[in-house]
Amino acid sequence: MLFSEDKISEIIEKNDIVDVISEYMTLKKKGSNYMALCPFHSEKTPSFSVSFSKQIFNCFGCGVGGNVITFIQRIEKISFIEAVKLLAERSGIQLEEDKDPKQLEMAKLRKTLYKLNTEAARFFYSNLNNGDKASQYLKKRGLSDAIIKKFGLGFAPDRWHELIDFMKRKGYGTELLYKAGLIVKGRDKEGYCDKFRNRVMFPIIDLKGNVIAFGGRVIGDSKPKYLNSPDTPVFNKGYNIYGLNFVKKIQNLENIIIVEGYMDTIALHQFGVENAVASLGTAFTENQAKLLKRFSNEIIISYDSDLAGQNATMKGLSILENEGCVVRVLSLPSGRDPDEYIRKEGIEAFREKIKGSVSLIEYKIENLRRNLDINNIQDRIVFTKGFSEILKDVISNVEVDAYIKKYSGIMQVNEAALYAELNRLRNKNKNGNNKHNIINSKKAEVELKKGEITAEIYLLNICIYYYEKVKDIFETLEPTDFSNDMHIKIAEIIQKYSKEDKPVTAGEIIGFFNSDDEKSKVAEIFSYKLPDADIDKLIKSSIERVKHSRLDRRIQEMIIKMEEMYLVGRKEEANAFFVEIKELQKRRRRFPEGRG
Ligand code: CTP
Ligand code: MN
Repeated sequence: MLFSEDKISEIIEKNDIVDVISEYMTLKKKGSNYMALCPFHSEKTPSFSVSFSKQIFNCFGCGVGGNVITFIQRIEKISFIEAVKLLAERSGIQLEEDKDPKQLEMAKLRKTLYKLNTEAARFFYSNLNNGDKASQYLKKRGLSDAIIKKFGLGFAPDRWHELIDFMKRKGYGTELLYKAGLIVKGRDKEGYCDKFRNRVMFPIIDLKGNVIAFGGRVIGDSKPKYLNSPDTPVFNKGYNIYGLNFVKKIQNLENIIIVEGYMDTIALHQFGVENAVASLGTAFTENQAKLLKRFSNEIIISYDSDLAGQNATMKGLSILENEGCVVRVLSLPSGRDPDEYIRKEGIEAFREKIKGSVSLIEYKIENLRRNLDINNIQDRIVFTKGFSEILKDVISNVEVDAYIKKYSGIMQVNEAALYAELNRLRNKNKNGNNKHNIINSKKAEVELKKGEITAEIYLLNICIYYYEKVKDIFETLEPTDFSNDMHIKIAEIIQKYSKEDKPVTAGEIIGFFNSDDEKSKVAEIFSYKLPDADIDKLIKSSIERVKHSRLDRRIQEMIIKMEEMYLVGRKEEANAFFVEIKELQKRRRRFPEGRG
């Protein structure tokens, strides 16, 4: 973690969530909360609520919630670190890194490099003169003047020191140019030469509008086709997405189309598909997925259809799905990339392709089908097996039915045969893991009853609302008595603060959780309304309920362990468990029934 817990707490404390959110939208007071239309999904009646006392927000419509930092992250579409910095600045809090001379120097260098890169981009752009070979090349590729300007394309002359000389006149020395990755060590005695020569230049721009790197394409067919900036203090391959600076500005963005190359992105934008971005050839990374997800949950991949492209698609799919995105694949006829396709077939045809983009499952099935011949019996068997393998983990029966209907027709395989093979596969897996299944089903029995969860949530809310009760509660209860990891962690945080005699807000507690999902869940927990009841009675009954269930859980766990021991023939251990279970059950009977 870059910031200390204390710093984060201070930032949450000094930036009142009601004030901060009010800067973005109008909040209406309603009871003890403030309500508004949710800025994170479209709705007609307000379900977005902000609590001053708890310092959290929560939307009952879309489930998004969190503290003041989460809100800034989501509304500004920036990272956690950026949000903390923004709020620190807003409230005049000094961050540790502001004082570190090394960090300060780095920040200064970065600023200089942004300026230097912008100068370089201007230089490249100014080299595009009507009729020159570079302009001619771009024209030949179908690029309009407007789109060339929008993307800031340019040209690096076919000479060794053009950029160096130009930048020298602007006051930038070779050391800085080298740090920016714009020049390389040469073989001659002058030491350095321009890295990009005789290339069409593509500036790469970050979300704040800074030029952070360049790609350069040869004019013609020599190799390598593209040269890219190396990693520098302002550029990190795999952390950026080409074109995202434009997509960021789209209101009500529905989805994002990700393509491989510079030219693909630019062509799509020229034809009005302005939600296109590129991952720039290299392997798609988790960081890129996180970046995309900030802007849209729905991603459409349109990579080349060659083998390398297919593999990249599969990898991208799984990375994006792991980040919680809904992913679809847009396939183009083999040998065509989006740039070529849209120029040949036009925008309407491409829009049809977007509409026809398919889910991961369907993409896998299509891949399988690609090289098979329906007239060949052997191939139809191969299809049946592969198809079942792909479908066996699909949980929804409706979905399975739909795929079987569709592909039994296309592949001329009997529906019943597809069902039979699928069932055979599923059963085989079940038997293979027989023991596992027994244990799992028992675990399901241990599943929590709703009343128990509610009792825990009451207690957690009471700890925040009635600070004076915290000590009492934790005298009879351990955080580990709670039923799940999240409740346990929250209880531990409250207990820790209470030991230092500090009250804690829900907003601060959220600060201890990392993922968006967790933050939303914590916000939901603290958005619960306590029932109108005598508070001490509520505490008592809730604690009983929690203890009670804790004991039930222990007993169930013991039973599972006992059965496991029996199964593997370890009778002695099984008997020991049996004795323990009897003991626990006796204790359980002494408990009065909870009423919570
Ligand atoms: N790429 C790269 N280095 C290479 C080849 C490709 O960095 N030697 C990256 C570039 O970002 C490129 C993307 O991979 O835009 C896709 O490569 P490719 O499909 O070969 O190029 P196109 O973008 O289609 O470029 P063009 O249409 O000009 O051939
Ligand atoms: Mn291309």
